[in-house]
Amino acid sequence: MDFLALAEKRYSCKSFSSRPLEKEQLDLILQAGRLAPTAKNLQEQRIYVLQDPDSLAKIDALTPCRYGAPTVLVVAWDNNNVYTYPGGKRTSGAEDATIVATHMLLAAASLGVDSCWLNRFDPEEAKKVLGLPENEEVLMLLDLGYAADGAGPLPNHSNRKPLEETVVR
Ligand SMILES: Cc1cc2nc3c(=O)[nH]c(=O)nc-3n(C[C@H](O)[C@H](O)[C@H](O)COP(=O)(O)O)c2cc1C
Repeated sequence: MDFLALAEKRYSCKSFSSRPLEKEQLDLILQAGRLAPTAKNLQEQRIYVLQDPDSLAKIDALTPCRYGAPTVLVVAWDNNNVYTYPGGKRTSGAEDATIVATHMLLAAASLGVDSCWLNRFDPEEAKKVLGLPENEEVLMLLDLGYAADGAGPLPNHSNRKPLEETVVR
């Protein structure tokens, strides 16, 4: 499948079946994250794999958006290992973690694994509830699994602005 077809195929799954995610698929998705570029190759991402009922219950307490996914990745970064941009106001942490998460999201789609990117939660609360170290920040949660019977893209999946509205050339 070429890249644009893959990008078009990926959608945000809002209803997962209970079918577990195979270890082989998960490992490939994690490898795709590992291969992502990061500023100065710092690789400050931290990925937590949550699959046991207690951990998934913690996610459900943080957000209504697990949608039954049997695997949730917590994508975080280590604030002690970031590149601070000239000007001193921004660091690479969120940006690098976002690239890692995007690699994993698209790798999942390429493997036929459904996903949903989540930011509807309080990152500080997530850090506390999940017991992350003080130096780590949570970027996003990634639901992974297989769509429930009858589930598919929402109508807005195919609703993208024309290039003329978002590209200046
Ligand atoms: C940064 C980001 C945060 C998102 N947060 C949530 C979320 O918390 N809950 C949810 O159901 N969907 C979430 N989504 C999914 C978007 O709503 C979805 O990507 C968008 O509506 C386009 O649909 P599509 O992904 O099916 O093409 C998020 C997507 C992105 C990129």
